[in-house]
Amino acid sequence: MSSVLTVRGGVPLTGRVKVRGAKNLVPKAMVAALLGNEPSVLRNVPEIKDVEVVTSLLQIHGVTVLKDPVTGDLTLDPQNAKTAPSTAIDAHAGDSRIPILFCGPLIHAIGEAFIPDLGGCKIGDRPIDYHLNVLRQFGAVVEKRPGGIHISAPKGLHGTKISLPYPSVGATEQVLLAATRADGITELTGAATEPEIVDLISVLQKMGAIISVQTDRTIRIEGVKELRGYSHRALPDRNEAASWASAALVTRGDIYVAGASQRDMMTFLNTYRKMGGGMDINDDGIRFYHQGGKLNPLVLETDVHPGFMTDWQQPLVVALTQAEGVSIVHETVYENRFGFTEALVRMGANIQVHRECLGSVPCRFGQRNFLHSAVVSGSTQLKGTDIDIPDLRGGFSHLIAALAATGTSRVTGIDVINRGYERFTSKLEGLGADFDVQNSRKSTPAAQISR
Ligand code: EPU
Repeated sequence: MSSVLTVRGGVPLTGRVKVRGAKNLVPKAMVAALLGNEPSVLRNVPEIKDVEVVTSLLQIHGVTVLKDPVTGDLTLDPQNAKTAPSTAIDAHAGDSRIPILFCGPLIHAIGEAFIPDLGGCKIGDRPIDYHLNVLRQFGAVVEKRPGGIHISAPKGLHGTKISLPYPSVGATEQVLLAATRADGITELTGAATEPEIVDLISVLQKMGAIISVQTDRTIRIEGVKELRGYSHRALPDRNEAASWASAALVTRGDIYVAGASQRDMMTFLNTYRKMGGGMDINDDGIRFYHQGGKLNPLVLETDVHPGFMTDWQQPLVVALTQAEGVSIVHETVYENRFGFTEALVRMGANIQVHRECLGSVPCRFGQRNFLHSAVVSGSTQLKGTDIDIPDLRGGFSHLIAALAATGTSRVTGIDVINRGYERFTSKLEGLGADFDVQNSRKSTPAAQISR
């Protein structure tokens, strides 16, 4: 059952939203609980689809997951972990990309893992070759089976030297989750160092792991025989915070993002300021606002941390349609993350996408026919239209474009947004957005929440 939003644009979003634990950390910390010999407690857990998927996958593997009805904190007890029926695992095929991170913890807990075919946003090919190569280097045997991949380690997992061809977030996490209880020392070079990875390392250290991170993208893990449980508060979702910050600029609004953390968003904050966005940084959150004058165009390149995060790109491109002049955006992390601009062009934006690397440094996608650079000319008045949401960040971007546009937009496929934005329709309502939610199957209003 899918929902449809009817959005009447032109209202500046004003008010306060709260961001909770990061989508790109929380499900992984939940998987890490499998490595312990006693229960773990995870706090600041958002109600999003990936948390549901991982809860279910853990439960079918015998992990007890209890949710505090008041705080939403999770207690995860792995002491009865067991092999899951393949039909139960298959039911999660295509739901998420997180299941690939179950490999190491399941091998340590029960000696084998079956991973269903993965889901996640269609923003490029998103292969898992780095993950499988890493696992093989630890001594795992990887077999393709109908509906997924079977992984075993007849001789256990052994520490090793690994060099990643690109600082992949997921592959770095794969190494961390496999290496902490592997026999011996693992040295990973070319690692990703995103704040969510550092938070996962904090979780593992609380469990008893020995992990050091050097400034040259080298991570060294000394394997230990046993890990205990952890008690951890997940770091806040900097990607959701940046999305609301862009929404404030696009709609000429003023949004206080409670929970936003300056430390994890420095590169975004510099960019926002260069564009002319207003911000007041407090201990418990950040106020983002349109200052009334013109917005400045930018030359921007996405990159791995500490560069400008790819997940910030799509909402910010909508804001760039409102800047005076020509902006250039070079996407170097995913080869296909500009598909969402097609709907923006239909709404009146002036955006051309190019195969060439329009940034300062040629990237992996330069000579390979991927439309991975964009030229945005502004400012343009956006007009409402019909939109079918393609992926998580692209979908949020379409939504804020519709909220800024003149006229009415009909937005389908909004359930994709629930994957990463907790209760986003309630948050929009609190910010004064003018919209209705309908259930598309019955096509009668299910929840009238317009103002
Ligand atoms: N890559 C490979 N082979 C692999 C793994 C990755 O070629 O085996 C490539 C990818 O195709 C991509 C690049 O390496 O071009 C980087 O991918 P990475 O592994 O870093 O991404 P990920 O772990 O799959 C996470 C986030 C993404 C975020 C990226 C980059 C989660 C669940 N997802 O994905 O979040 O964009 O890191 O920071 O943590 C989002 O939140 O909207 C989102 C897509």
